[in-house]
Parts: sequence; structure tokens; C-alpha cells
Amino acid sequence: MANTKSIHGEWSSRFAYILAATGSAVGLGNIWKFPYITGENGGGAFVIVYLGCVIAIGIPIMIAETMMGRRGRQSPINTLKTLATEANVNKNWKYLGWMGVIAGILILSYYSVIAGWATAYVVKAFFGGFSADATVIKTVFDDLIASPVQLVFWHTLFMIATMSVVMRGVRGGLERAVQLLMPSLFAILILLVGYAMTTGEYYFQGLSFLFSPDFSEIDSDAVLTAMGHAFFTLGLGMGAIMVYGSYLPSHVSIAKTSLYIAGADTVVALLAGIAIFPLVFANGLEPGSGPGLIFQTLPIAFGNMTGGWLFGVLFFVLLVFAALTSSISLIEPVVAWLVENRGLSRVKASVLSGVVTWALGVSVALSFNVWSDFTFFDKTIFDCLDYLTANLMLPIGGFAIAVFAGWFMQQKHVQEELEMPDGQYMVWLFLVCYVAPAAVFLVFLHVLGIF
Ligand code: TRP
Repeated sequence: MANTKSIHGEWSSRFAYILAATGSAVGLGNIWKFPYITGENGGGAFVIVYLGCVIAIGIPIMIAETMMGRRGRQSPINTLKTLATEANVNKNWKYLGWMGVIAGILILSYYSVIAGWATAYVVKAFFGGFSADATVIKTVFDDLIASPVQLVFWHTLFMIATMSVVMRGVRGGLERAVQLLMPSLFAILILLVGYAMTTGEYYFQGLSFLFSPDFSEIDSDAVLTAMGHAFFTLGLGMGAIMVYGSYLPSHVSIAKTSLYIAGADTVVALLAGIAIFPLVFANGLEPGSGPGLIFQTLPIAFGNMTGGWLFGVLFFVLLVFAALTSSISLIEPVVAWLVENRGLSRVKASVLSGVVTWALGVSVALSFNVWSDFTFFDKTIFDCLDYLTANLMLPIGGFAIAVFAGWFMQQKHVQEELEMPDGQYMVWLFLVCYVAPAAVFLVFLHVLGIF
């Protein structure tokens, strides 16, 4: 099977794949979510647990998931069916693919709402809506969140953008765009870090918040959130990177590319944190203020710095773009499945899955205002979807992927795909057979209070 191709086409090169997969990994998770959950969970210790999870769980599972995709060459559901047949094990493994498809739709439904906030901020930045005053900036954000019409409008716009890209196939046009936009996003983050440095003592306060761990700050739920975020930020556990792997030409090194992608993803998240926390402290804001954190901090920097208007517009354009390259990977598994099994054209498949996701997203948009009292275990619809997907479905999916690759697939098939030197292969196998599944399992036991 090492030389088969997907019916949906292939990436034009190894570099094209790295860009697309980095595009999937780098997104709101790095710039919006990482800072605010770090703030909510006390800083340094949370960051260390998150980094540990990326290394010991995320990277090995990323290699496993990509490898499975390339060997199966189809949507995750059919890939798992094919691989289960090849390994001569129970066909019910395909339900792992189903769980991934559902997780992708659920994640995208709220992802798109947040990406909508970022889109709204492009317009606000453009019309000079940013000021150097933290209270003004907070009102701008609060007003946006309070408006169901605006949130639904921007969410709709973002969903339309996502589906128009997905319709054309993940390769069309995207490859070239990512090539230019990713480095630009990186450059603006560096600029923002530069601005953060001008806050003097607060810069060091920000750094120490991020990097000096105080383990009394975290409990089992924080550890679960850190682990869930490792999956979320790398885009693992639901078949997104599996489907991208299925378009990967044979003989590209999966291990090496996974390391690049995880490395780039981590650097972007840390830069975002370094840019944001000094502003939090310099303006007397609350690190744990929640999902609005970047929208209440970064505009202050743009309102203050020379050229801030231009950089503000650019930053939010790039953020929306980073979200777009992530969102298409969330919906690609279900679109590929609809094309393979229901015989739909890519266009019809995209419209259908887009409409379902959009409708769910509307309820998320409303959960920030008119439905904010509608809660379940004290969590709004947004909080529930976030917890269910990032903290439960992705780690469970990742656990199952590790177990399947490590314990159920035939080792000679795995080796054929990975083509790793023996020593490295043994390290990976050890991580994927023992370390990653055990870690996920223990964290779950811990949260349930059993361990
Ligand atoms: N990794 C992206 C981010 O950090 C989001 C994302 C893309 C994702 N594909 C995924 C999350 C698959 C979970 C699963 O913004």
C-alpha cells in the first residue's frame, strides 16, 4: 500500500504538506486559547504540563495519526475500516472515525464563532476603533459579545469563507497562500513581543507568570485542560491530520515533518503568551478573564504603538487567515467521507456539512448573550462544547489512535510507512504503546477522583 494514492488528490510536495499541516495546527488555539486558558489556570505550571503533553503524547500521536492516514488513503472512517481489515481486527474501529467526524463538526461550530470575533476586529481595527485605554477596549469587546446579530453575522461570514475553500479541495490555492501568510503572522507576533518589552518591569512579570511554575496553582482539571489543549493545538485526535496524511506523497518522512509542525506550533503559542501577559499586567487586567483575553489586550498595544493602525489590521487579518487554515482541516474528514460514501460532489458535501455546522454555531453565538443563562453544570453551550471536545473527545480519540497504531497494526506495515531508523522507531513505539495511552488514562482517572 505504500505507493497508493487518495482519490481526492495529493499535496504537490513535502513542503506543501508541511505548510498545510502547520496551517491546521497554528490557529486560534495558539493565539486566542492558549493565553486565556494559561491565565485561567495560573500560568507557569500549566505551561509546563502542556509542553510535557506536546512532547510525550502529542508528537508520538501525531506521527501515528498521520501514518494511519497515509496508509489508509481515505477519509478517517474508511481509513480505519481498511486498516482494521488489513490488521485483521474488529471492524468497529471505524466508529473511531465517526467520533472524529462528530468532534470536528462540534469544534468548528464554536471555532467559527470565535473566528468571527477576529473578523469583526479586522473591521474595528480598520476604522480606528482601537485606543490606548484598556477600559475603552473592554467596552468595544463587551459590546460585540452582547450583540447576537453581530456574532451570528460574523460567524456566517467565516463559515462561508471556510466552505468556499473546502469546496475547491484543500489544495487549491491554499498552498500558496499559506506560504506567504504564515511567515507574516510570525513576524507580527515578534513585533508584538517587541512592544511587550517596552512595558519594562511588566514584561518580566509576564515572563515569570508564563515560565515560573507554581504547582499549587493547578488541580486535576487544569491538568486535563493542558492535556486536551495539546491535542487541540496540534489538531490531533479527530482525523484532521489523518485526512491530511492521506494526501501525503509516499516516502515523505512523517516523523520529521511532525517534529517541524509541533515545533512551529509551540513557538507561536509561546510568542502569543509573551506578547499578551505583559499587557495584562501593565494595564491591571485579570489574567483569568477568559475567552476575551486577547481581544482586551492586544488592541491596547495597537492603540499605543506607532504604525499601530496598520499592524492592528494586519494582525487580525492574519489571525482570521490562521483560523481559516485550521477550520478547513476540521471539516475535511466529513466532506471526504460524504464524497467517498454518499457519492456527493465536493461542492454538495461542503454545503451540507457547512450548513449543519453553521446551525450549531448559531447556538454557540447566542450562548454569549441571550442564552448565557442557559447552562449545564454551570457551563454555557460554548463551555460545554469546548469541554466535551477538547477535554474529552480529542484525548479519547488520541488514546484510541495510539492503541490502534501501537497494538493492533502489524509492525511491518507501520515500519513500511514510517521508514524510521531502528533506534528512533523504538522510541516512538515505546511512547505510542505505553507512555501516551497511560498518560491519557491516568489523567482521566485523576479527574474522576480514582487516582
Ligand atoms: N489546531 C487548531 C488551532 O490550534 C485547531 C484545529 C485544527 C483542531 N484542526 C483540528 C483542533 C483538529 C482539534 C482537532 O487553532
